Amino acid sequence: MKNLPLKEEPIILGIESSCDETAASVVKGGREILSSVIISSALEQAKYGGVVPEIASRAHTDAVSHAVMGAVCEAGIELKDIDAVAVTYGAGLLGALLVGVSYAKALAFSLSVPLIAVSHIRGHMAAAYLADKELKPPFIGLLASGGHTAVTVVESYESLKVLGGTLDDAVGEAFDKTARVLGLPYPGGPNIEKLAKEGEANISLPKMLKNMGGYNFSYSGLKTAVINYVHNKEQKGESFSKADVAASFQKAALDVLCDKAIEAALEYKIDTIAVGGGVAANGYLRDMITKKCGYKSIKVVLPPKILCTDNASMIAAEGYVQYINRNFADLSLNAKAAVSLS
Ligand code: KG4
Ligand code: ZN
Repeated sequence: MKNLPLKEEPIILGIESSCDETAASVVKGGREILSSVIISSALEQAKYGGVVPEIASRAHTDAVSHAVMGAVCEAGIELKDIDAVAVTYGAGLLGALLVGVSYAKALAFSLSVPLIAVSHIRGHMAAAYLADKELKPPFIGLLASGGHTAVTVVESYESLKVLGGTLDDAVGEAFDKTARVLGLPYPGGPNIEKLAKEGEANISLPKMLKNMGGYNFSYSGLKTAVINYVHNKEQKGESFSKADVAASFQKAALDVLCDKAIEAALEYKIDTIAVGGGVAANGYLRDMITKKCGYKSIKVVLPPKILCTDNASMIAAEGYVQYINRNFADLSLNAKAAVSLS
């Protein structure tokens, strides 16, 4: 592939299988989504209160071919029109990732096109390029997902500087764990958001998050505070509003993210913030960051919700960045449970 002539507007097929969504998408020139298919095993996982890796792997095996062929068909192209295959190689569940990686390797090999290894985390940030076709680095990247929480400076298409991140739980993980304490079903994040709409953020939870220096976050203290509040009330036989707990938790967990991202934009004199990851689908976060950025004349790029949660268009978009840099993988590519953010 060393001397392969690069196309200006390559058709890239993205494949994603890091958790409980089997997804495939065709993206043209890195910015134009021609198709997107997402097959989720979340309903089945919900029976067990969370993602069971073995069930996820089996569901991906059943779905991957349907997702890819569905995406090709929906895009109105044929397999031979694909210029490169981009696949999530990490971070995520190893068995789940291996399904996508193996499929992508076989497909790229059979079509004689480049194989591109994409970090799921970088993919979440690349969703911003699909949301705003004019977006160019530098911008502040706020990543808020189930596995990662970070404030970054996206210095160029290739390089990203991490200003700070979570010291313990990721923000999505905190949503999921808090949902369990409140007896809400999986997936926790959207269910907390729904319940929070019926309540008031009137319970005082630790302010420690805000007082932490730099751009780091800690969510385990907040989660423990919610557990203590609920247990205390239960032990005393006092009634309490779960909706108020959900609203208070949501506010405490998300205000700090907005504030730190804005702080970074001001410190680094960067006028745009792009938000990515499953938690960026949260309506409170979307409204709050839009409002607060408005006060400071900062532009905010919020991908549509379907591009915040796991999808393969973001993988193809990041794949495009690797494509123009000829950063191709070979058939020795393996899945990785953890990958570094930068
Ligand atoms: O990005 P994502 O789909 O997967 C990872 O890469 O981790 O993020 C999943 C996380 C889960 O923790 C889920 O509860 C959370 O995103 N999430 C939400 C919402 N939708 C998904 N959290 C809060 N509010 C939501 N509406
Ligand atoms: Zn994700």
